[in-house]
Amino acid sequence: MHTSTQERVIRPARNVLGSLRLPGDKSISHRYGMLAAFADGTSHFTNFSTGADCASTLACMEALGAKVGKLTDGSVEVTGVGGRVTPAKHPLDCGNSGSTMRMISGLLAPQEGSFTLVGDASLSRRPMERIRKPLAEMGARLTLTEGHAPVMIEGARLHAIDYTTPVPSAQVKTCVLLAGLQTEGTTTVRESVRTRDHSELALRAFGATVHRTSDAVSITGPQALHAIDAAVPGDISSAAFFLCAAALFPGSSLVLDSLGLNPTRATLLDVLTGLGARIAVLHLEEKHAELVGTVQVSAPAEGLGSAEISGALAAQLIDELPVLAAIAPYMRGGIRIRDAKELRVKESDRIALVAKNLRAMGAEVTEFEDGLDVPGGQSLHGAVIDSGGDHRIAMAFSVAGLRAEGETLIQGAESAAISFPEFFDLLDQVAER
Ligand code: S3P
Repeated sequence: MHTSTQERVIRPARNVLGSLRLPGDKSISHRYGMLAAFADGTSHFTNFSTGADCASTLACMEALGAKVGKLTDGSVEVTGVGGRVTPAKHPLDCGNSGSTMRMISGLLAPQEGSFTLVGDASLSRRPMERIRKPLAEMGARLTLTEGHAPVMIEGARLHAIDYTTPVPSAQVKTCVLLAGLQTEGTTTVRESVRTRDHSELALRAFGATVHRTSDAVSITGPQALHAIDAAVPGDISSAAFFLCAAALFPGSSLVLDSLGLNPTRATLLDVLTGLGARIAVLHLEEKHAELVGTVQVSAPAEGLGSAEISGALAAQLIDELPVLAAIAPYMRGGIRIRDAKELRVKESDRIALVAKNLRAMGAEVTEFEDGLDVPGGQSLHGAVIDSGGDHRIAMAFSVAGLRAEGETLIQGAESAAISFPEFFDLLDQVAER
């Protein structure tokens, strides 16, 4: 097969064996980087995400006056602006990162000055009305173009609100909390499904007081943030590709250490256990209220069973659904996914691309507006995979390719670097050929 830097050949594997430590969690790195850049003092982070998305966050915060240094040992040092940013001369480039654009908008809406946030073609197609609405309710002056980036902000004095997110979203929740941090009074965000709570935990780590109930988070502003030192836990959404790969091969054994196991992120472990995979947590500790542990996974001799994912489960697993769907043909009973319409407005339309690529590999699949049915007991053959420039699609089908007949060619393989530049090297390390 012809290859270029944009393409990657995946050869079938016989087994998945080994032990890995993964780069820092993308969600936590965004938050630590952003809060450190806003706080007073100098923060120091080890195992910070190596993904391009978090580099976008750091570059935006640098353009707003923070100082960012990459030390020779790979750690990252961030000196914050002490609660007041400097308006940037140029538009802030959020690249491919929805988290960067949505969360920084909340941070900037109460600041003095004008700001413009732009992104790449994919990010410019993604819905931004979901942040404009609550911020406008707080009195922010924020304009979009037909609901999309560029996001133009004229800093304004805001007032506290009590807001219920119409679609569960940790990015929207964070956006409102970051505005609330700087706004007099108590701002509350309510959500029907508890989304990842890294912002709440990170705000506390940086010294803020945050109140939580089962379905709401409140912050009373204004509050100042103070620098911290932290080790970022390994990214469980990156681990998902390796956990699923190991779950496919009877006789496999994979150990992942220093892995983030925050309960709002670890639902995949329950799903894999339900599918029959054997998962053991060998060690567990807490760092800045984030659970971190060592996980060992091995595949069931009889193969994976079946899974049904809908309701709150779909929201909690949203980033892991592409890889679960991509390996579903190899399960005995396959997978049924519903209530996952949000997948259509991620870095790509992930429902359409998963269906298209599974079909390219010879699988039968039914697409729904809010999900997919992928029957089990199917064998796949290698094919040309269209990643659509979406990192999670590129990685999900690399995992599917490990058990296919023949070689799989991943087009747009470089997109893996959005969250996980080391992905292909680590895959080669643990995939036995
Ligand atoms: C993220 C929240 C989720 C997730 C994304 C990262 C975050 O998005 O899909 O990859 O770090 O807060 P939504 O907030 O749009 O659900």
